[in-house]
Amino acid sequence: MREPSVSALQGGSWRSRTRCLWGGCRVGVFVAIIPLLLTLDGLEARTRNDFSMVQPLVTLEQLLWVSGKQIGSVDTFRIPLITATPRGTLLAFSEARKLSASDEGAKFIALRRSTDQGSTWSTTEFIIDDGEAPDGLNLGAVVSDMDTGVVFLLYSLCAHKVRCQVASTMLVWSKDDGISWSPPRNLSLDIGTEMFAPGPGSGIQKQREPWKGRLIVCGHGTLERDGVFCLLSDDHGATWRYGTGISGIPYGQPKRENDFNPDECQPYELPDGSVIINARNQNNYHCHCRIVLRSYDACDTLRLRDVTFDRELVDPVVAAGAVATNSGIVFFSNPAHPESRVNLTLRWSLSNGTSWQKETVQLWPGPSGYSSLAALENSRNGEEESPQLYVLYEKGLNHYTESISMVKISVYGTL
Ligand SMILES: *[C@@H]1O[C@H](CO)[C@@H](O)[C@H](O)[C@H]1NC(C)=O
Ligand SMILES: *[C@@H]1O[C@H](CO)[C@@H](O)[C@H](O)[C@H]1NC(C)=O
Ligand SMILES: *[C@@H]1O[C@H](CO)[C@@H](O)[C@H](O)[C@H]1NC(C)=O
Repeated sequence: MREPSVSALQGGSWRSRTRCLWGGCRVGVFVAIIPLLLTLDGLEARTRNDFSMVQPLVTLEQLLWVSGKQIGSVDTFRIPLITATPRGTLLAFSEARKLSASDEGAKFIALRRSTDQGSTWSTTEFIIDDGEAPDGLNLGAVVSDMDTGVVFLLYSLCAHKVRCQVASTMLVWSKDDGISWSPPRNLSLDIGTEMFAPGPGSGIQKQREPWKGRLIVCGHGTLERDGVFCLLSDDHGATWRYGTGISGIPYGQPKRENDFNPDECQPYELPDGSVIINARNQNNYHCHCRIVLRSYDACDTLRLRDVTFDRELVDPVVAAGAVATNSGIVFFSNPAHPESRVNLTLRWSLSNGTSWQKETVQLWPGPSGYSSLAALENSRNGEEESPQLYVLYEKGLNHYTESISMVKISVYGTL
């Protein structure tokens, strides 16, 4: 593989739209009007206002990992995961594939942390090491418990059964925003050894009824447990069980082109308390676009009659990013192309994901693969500021495995 030129990758294709004057202008108006709205109408007015303010603007891009034996002699970094902890720390994870770009083989889990909203990042730490496993670890999903502040990270071992017999689902957690981590816990002792590939991306904690407070991590299986299903915890991560999932068709058999085969997936919660699971359409059933599942019981069950296909979300069969903000803006990221992993694009919906805004932000026209989204929505000292969105994605000049890049986006377009 040709070594990527870091400097060439650092510059995004996006051009900061010249909205600096605007931005300043907006801040002024914003500060003057918001306190008034808050006194008059409370939260409702603020939420209404959120939507008219939405004007996503890229304010920062930084490569967090570069492949090609430049960092800890790691061959390839892949599978980006990003999350904001309840205390506002950003955690970025990836698979550090030791010897090759292959999904199998030995790996570390790499972590970098930011405590200043993404401006600076700690140096890479390898928090998990699978040694020389022929079919080592695979990420994975990260989810935080807002009530306890604990961050959970799930990953699998032996997912491909290459020179190993039993797949395991593993869990580690951190009580100090990712500084230290628990020893791995083998969840398969409780949930069984069927292969479960979490995410890749983020789990969610239900913010609304039904099952407010529930932790939900969705993923997919192989033939022995076909399709998409979720792991659930109603006791802050102490015990976990599976909800019933949705199977591929034909059930339990190898799939062919155009068969129904939902795969890697990302959940988010809508304002009505239902959960959307946006899934990779592995065999291009119906379209070269995303499968959308919806659950009304916090992922206890997923039903075929709640499956739709979002033709606006054109997709080349890949893991995509999706997140909903507290005020109900839904963001989606993927390489927006029907066949190739190129054109990493950010979209947003102001209608609970039923439609997408015409305007998009192209983050990178070239090779780009998996992506993960996180939102930071702090109002510091009661002072309102724009929510910040973070995109962590696979980016390259010739191939998307060359690096993993972090993009920071101001949701209201203010600096
Ligand atoms: C996890 O537990 C299962 C079930 O007992 C077992 O088969 C598997 O080997 C364990 N995995 C690890 C990594 O210890
Ligand atoms: C990139 O995505 C945008 C938004 O969907 C689309 O308009 C454009 O045609 C895409 N470009 C390519 C090269 O696919
Ligand atoms: C989104 O869902 C919420 C809750 O059901 C609803 O109040 C709101 O009107 C919906 N928004 C749109 C644009 O349909």
